[in-house]
Amino acid sequence: MDKAIHDAATLKAEISGGIHKSRVHDSAHKHVAGTAEYIDDMPEPAGLLHAGVGLSDRPHAKIVAMDLSKVEAAPGVVCVLTGKDVPGINDISSGGHHDEPLFADTVVEYHGQLIFAVIAETRQQARAAAKLAEITYEDLPFWTSVRDALAHNAPDVITPLKLQRGDAKAALASAKNRITAEMEIGGQEHFYLEGQIALAIPGEDDEVAVWSSTQHPSEIQHIVGHVLDIPSNAATVYQRRMGGGFGGKETQGNGFAAVAALAAKKLKRAVKFRPDRDEDMIMTGKRHDFVAFYDIGYDDDGVIEALDATFAARCGFSADLSGPVTDRTLFHADSSYYYPNVHLVTRPLKTHTCSNTAYRGFGGPQGMLAGERFIEEIAYALGRDPLDIRKANFYGPNGSGRDVTPYHQTVEDNIILRVVEELEESADYRARRQAIIDFNRTSPIIKKGIALTPVKFGISFTMTAFNQAGALVHVYQDGSVQLNHGGTEMGQGLYIKVAQVVADVFQIDLERVKITATTTGKVPNTSATAASSGSDLNGMAAYNAAKEIKDRLIAFAASHYQVSPDDIEFLPNRVRIGGREIPFPELVKAAYFGRVQLSAAGFYKTPKIHWDRAAGKGRPFYYFAYGAACTEVSIDTLTGEYIFERTDILHDVGRSLNPTIDIGQIEGGFIQGMGWLTTEELWWNDKGHLRTHAPSTYKIPLASDRPKIFNVRLTDFSENREPTIGRSKAVGEPPFMLAISALEAISMAVASVADYRVCPRLDAPATPERVLMAVERMKKV
Ligand code: MTE
Ligand code: MOS
Repeated sequence: MDKAIHDAATLKAEISGGIHKSRVHDSAHKHVAGTAEYIDDMPEPAGLLHAGVGLSDRPHAKIVAMDLSKVEAAPGVVCVLTGKDVPGINDISSGGHHDEPLFADTVVEYHGQLIFAVIAETRQQARAAAKLAEITYEDLPFWTSVRDALAHNAPDVITPLKLQRGDAKAALASAKNRITAEMEIGGQEHFYLEGQIALAIPGEDDEVAVWSSTQHPSEIQHIVGHVLDIPSNAATVYQRRMGGGFGGKETQGNGFAAVAALAAKKLKRAVKFRPDRDEDMIMTGKRHDFVAFYDIGYDDDGVIEALDATFAARCGFSADLSGPVTDRTLFHADSSYYYPNVHLVTRPLKTHTCSNTAYRGFGGPQGMLAGERFIEEIAYALGRDPLDIRKANFYGPNGSGRDVTPYHQTVEDNIILRVVEELEESADYRARRQAIIDFNRTSPIIKKGIALTPVKFGISFTMTAFNQAGALVHVYQDGSVQLNHGGTEMGQGLYIKVAQVVADVFQIDLERVKITATTTGKVPNTSATAASSGSDLNGMAAYNAAKEIKDRLIAFAASHYQVSPDDIEFLPNRVRIGGREIPFPELVKAAYFGRVQLSAAGFYKTPKIHWDRAAGKGRPFYYFAYGAACTEVSIDTLTGEYIFERTDILHDVGRSLNPTIDIGQIEGGFIQGMGWLTTEELWWNDKGHLRTHAPSTYKIPLASDRPKIFNVRLTDFSENREPTIGRSKAVGEPPFMLAISALEAISMAVASVADYRVCPRLDAPATPERVLMAVERMKKV
């Protein structure tokens, strides 16, 4: 590069994007312009074939006979694959449970389970042919809901978790006040905009390359390996970006990738597998719905003395991630509150439905929602503002004797009271609540409600081994950098954050760092991008890789230019070496000629965490992320419809790596949570068929459903007390639970009908229908 150009470009005061700076998502413009490439946008390989699905139309049955001859003879069909065609193991279960066949061959356990795949010249031909199958079943007893499962004495898909401290039973018996009730908590369809998809291209010998819309490329690699009976080193998985994952692509992409890879190797042609939206919705697992059974004891000030609760979940036909998901429900059943005597158990129930899976919050939202219901119960019973009951039960400071969770982890970084009180003030909660009570007195049909709810969310995978990550950084001779790490991009902004980390280490403009697609061939043995820990883990791994190269450059410069290493400083796009400053690329070039390795792999593992599931004790979380939201709603008591008037959010992300991205995560998380608790309802009929399998019957929030006033702020005082990357905190999931304020605001509006004397016990989702029924109930009390 010409010296003069260098000087102009390098003498800037700042680089264009290190950490703690708001920077637009690297693909934002491409998302809007439609030029961001998803798997279905990739140029198609010559001779590409397409897969179609043959699904069970029974919820539970023996397969007595299968006649696929008409399918095979249909136009365009190249082959039909069943369990018999699997050279390796006919299993796609996550976590070694071996309870989820790729192709059901002897029994089917839910309506929509994959029995066979058709491979044809076009997608339309594959889909049309699949309908010609003749399958004879012998029906078996089935159940689909939590209550049906309990009635049938259904087994648990994994061993339940129990958390306990003190003697909850005795404390309940002697408590001054006691409430025993239940809450139904609905599930949720992920509704990622890009559906499940995989593209497989066969290679030489045993090799196969798979492009998969997955949060977990390493698991796709393992699954493809054992289905095809090839070693991991022969299967390479690529993932540039997903059009949303939300947990629905942590394990649920396994089957699609396995079928595409199986067909590709068998036929020696490229194969794409993209199910239709309703197939996707019928086949794949969702957020677990629960029934929570609770027994609370509390004193006359509303302070909880004891809690005994059971969280029964619809897990579906196989274990999938139901163990860790339902565990996380229990970890968050405390919400932000101290329970002196506590007994909590899960019932991860087997049901004849799709296998429920990860979904933003990973079971935590369901636990936290119940925790907030306990507070509501006490508040209405005592005729108090729920916010006062919340404050009376918050975890106390260290040393208060009220700082230990039911899983025996001390809450060391508690800032919940400060967050809540700042929001209470800035949202003018008390005055608005009084104004709403006054309004409701004189408004016969429209009723208003307001609620301010806290969030405390534990960060780390509860499976300790998953808390590791790797990265690979290359610096080229022109000073440009290529970055790769094990995390996947699903819109959350992980790639830009990690690029900011690397730009920060070298003090180079963000544009000098090329973000590259995640692949098992560059960084092996990765964890799913999940548990909100993507930037904590991969950010640190990339930091370590970049830092290693930087240290080598410093050592080289010290000896080459004969200065002390302490006298070398990375300035924006240039390096000061003693008395001189040279552009970064010039140092890199010199280092190359000095035979310095300009590439490094980085690794990181989270310190301090441990967890003993059998004992129900440990430190499963490295730290907690906090937040609070205040939502105001108006409901129409004649129709049950509602409008969110205003939401104020104050959320803690530590020292933000990228405030713009984080605020986007908070807004999106809140709206998605609002959808879960309001209009998104899953419904199975008495034949075990999911009837809400398209946008016509399944209602996600529209842009116009967002609160009319929506104020989102980051706490300005917080930084992570643990040495995370830039002292930031995870942001992907915690804001989802801010939406609990929306449900509780509706609940207050409903309660006004009976003068706030009884807790409306509004189940989720609070669809207009359910709100209307609750209003009618209130009229009768
Ligand atoms: N944001 C967008 N836009 N799309 C997504 O799919 N997934 C969420 C959250 N935010 C998601 C998202 C979930 S479930 C998780 S666990 C985190 O992002 C994962 O990314 P992170 O660990 O990098 O935050
Ligand atoms: Mo997120 S549910 O952990 O993928």
